[in-house]
Amino acid sequence: MTYVLGIETTCDETAVAIVKDGKEILSNVIASQIGLHQSYGGVYPELASRSHVDCLLPVLQESLKQASLHPSDIDLIAVAKAPGLIGSITIGLNAAKALSLAWGIPYVGVNHIEAHLYAAMMGVEEVVFPALGVVLSGGHTFIVKIHALGHYETLGTTVDDALGEAFDKVASLLGLPYPGGPEIEKLALLGNPYKYTFKAGRVKNHPLHFSFSGIKTSVLYAVKGACSDKNSPTLVAEEEKKHIAASFQEAVFTDVLGKTLCAAYKEKCNILFLGGGVTQSRSLKEYFRKYLPETVKVYYPPQGLSLDNGAMIAGLGYHVYQKNKVSDPLNLQAQPRLPL
Ligand code: KG4
Ligand code: ZN
Repeated sequence: MTYVLGIETTCDETAVAIVKDGKEILSNVIASQIGLHQSYGGVYPELASRSHVDCLLPVLQESLKQASLHPSDIDLIAVAKAPGLIGSITIGLNAAKALSLAWGIPYVGVNHIEAHLYAAMMGVEEVVFPALGVVLSGGHTFIVKIHALGHYETLGTTVDDALGEAFDKVASLLGLPYPGGPEIEKLALLGNPYKYTFKAGRVKNHPLHFSFSGIKTSVLYAVKGACSDKNSPTLVAEEEKKHIAASFQEAVFTDVLGKTLCAAYKEKCNILFLGGGVTQSRSLKEYFRKYLPETVKVYYPPQGLSLDNGAMIAGLGYHVYQKNKVSDPLNLQAQPRLPL
């Protein structure tokens, strides 16, 4: 029996969770900074770091309390070491190192993107590889072939914005608050997804790569066109906003589904693991349910594990440690970028 404490501070959530043997979640505490960053329309890195400093200890204590465990019960610490905001990651990483020394237990750094994929495996009884992994988050968009845990082959990635980032930017053009994904989803339910013919980008010679910067510009023109005051895009007629939101969502989901299916066909994989903040969208799940062939099995993160969280870090950390059973060195550095 191994109790792993997972720490996540790569962006704007301070999260600590305790997971038993890589699967059983005993606590999953998240302090969200959404309110802090909302007036900036996105994450303000310096504020995020300072808030992690303030929140980490109370979140850690709450996590132990909810799991009814004492520090002496914890066997391993897992921490997100990359990718993300360097200042924010450093705070979680230093905390992990300090706890490892103070409690006399090992610690391992894990890749945050890999953890998003692992989240989708946490509710699955028996995970079978090879499979296809699709990460759709605020900072990353990837299609990978998963040969085994820790062994990934990148098939496609974004050449500009991540999908969640595109949702956030389009929401901002529509005058909606940050984070934009849930706001667009709500509005899109009321709109006509075929009113505007938006299209996500194609990347020459890389059919599985993504590009979302062009569609953002198309939305900007649609907003301007629908605007009552041409100099103030936030004044889009309310009626048009919902159609723009629905048409944007339809276009990007069509793109993601098409490229995922293409990759699944090419790699002969009929098992999909989807992770990252955008998989919180019910509309995305409904879209995949409607259009994926029945032969393809798709798994999403269980409730509460789509957005950044410590449980996916602890769960993956368990497997990372099992490989070599060695603690990471104390000079391990936070990395803003790290491929899978
Ligand atoms: O995975 P995540 O917590 O952050 C990163 O690791 O980057 O994802 C956050 C992203 C935000 O961009 C947010 O707008 C998006 O996930 N998101 C959604 C929805 N809920 C969150 N996007 C579309 N529809 C949603 N319902
Ligand atoms: Zn994330």
